[in-house]
Amino acid sequence: MHSNTKEQNIYLAPMEDVSDFPFRQVLLKIGKPDVFFTEFVNVDGFTSKNGGSHVVHRLEKNNNQEPIVVQFWGNSSEKFIESAKKIKGFNFQGIDINLGCPVKKVMKVGCGSALIGNYDIVGDIVKSLQSLSLDIPLSVKTRIGIEKFDEEWITFLLKLKLEKIFIHGRTVQQVFGGNADWEAIHEVVKLRDVLSPSTQIIGNGDIKSVKQAMEFKEKYCVDGVMIGREVMKNPWVFSKKTPEKKERIETLLFHMEEMKKFVEKYPDKGWSSIKKFYHGYLRENEELTFLRNELFEKTSLEESMKLIEER
Ligand SMILES: Cc1cc2nc3c(=O)[nH]c(=O)nc-3n(C[C@H](O)[C@H](O)[C@H](O)COP(=O)(O)O)c2cc1C
Repeated sequence: MHSNTKEQNIYLAPMEDVSDFPFRQVLLKIGKPDVFFTEFVNVDGFTSKNGGSHVVHRLEKNNNQEPIVVQFWGNSSEKFIESAKKIKGFNFQGIDINLGCPVKKVMKVGCGSALIGNYDIVGDIVKSLQSLSLDIPLSVKTRIGIEKFDEEWITFLLKLKLEKIFIHGRTVQQVFGGNADWEAIHEVVKLRDVLSPSTQIIGNGDIKSVKQAMEFKEKYCVDGVMIGREVMKNPWVFSKKTPEKKERIETLLFHMEEMKKFVEKYPDKGWSSIKKFYHGYLRENEELTFLRNELFEKTSLEESMKLIEER
């Protein structure tokens, strides 16, 4: 096997409208994680009668983006099974179940974080997927608990003998506030050592650099570290470099070109999510800040690209 067998220390977090295909293309160019994640994909949408056409763009990938894990969310084991069968042949290197999303629209329908502590449903989903004898790792991504560290929840997950558990060191109640609790992540590792030594624990929360990731890997004894929001503030986080003005502008333009091609192929995908990255690309220089402010005024991708090209 190729890149899949390399050491997998650093993961890109699944993030809706962030860890999408166009941005992954950018990371391939400027510095990439060891493992990519897709955005989360709703199993009901993906298996719906219209063939999942409105979510299918989230599953787009190419060989260069491997290893890449697909993340699904939902609460029906039947839909999870159908989705897992449907992606056979897509060549993903893992399937992950979202058990941590705190967003209202997801929790309201009994999914994401709403599944924390729901042993029947989660057990059913995991065991159903395990019964398929998938030839790729099965994992879950979750939080440390609802209001506080929940040892019972973690114990339950470990007893399911998953290949990996991605653990965001925040409670559901925290949403994204306060700090990620890496001591709690260490507690998960200690429980793992006793209950399921073969399950890899990947820590997540507030990591700002690869250097910090490797320090935390050592200090908290995790098998890998996942980096999320920092990538919007600093798309060069995986490359460990601080780019000059020219490279910043060229990279944003490349991102826009990738987005343009992608939106043409998948009109259901909106282009404007790219604005989340403007701060990350265009900073540390007055001229860049000025350009950034001008870009925020633009209402189409073409106009935005023209502004950069003609400046
Ligand atoms: C814009 C955005 C979208 C996200 N979408 C997802 C998602 O689709 N699936 C998921 O498991 N977590 C999602 N998350 C959570 C991240 O994967 C990660 O767990 C969280 O941001 C904490 O890591 P960080 O402190 O490095 O950002 C999202 C977070 C953000 C900010």
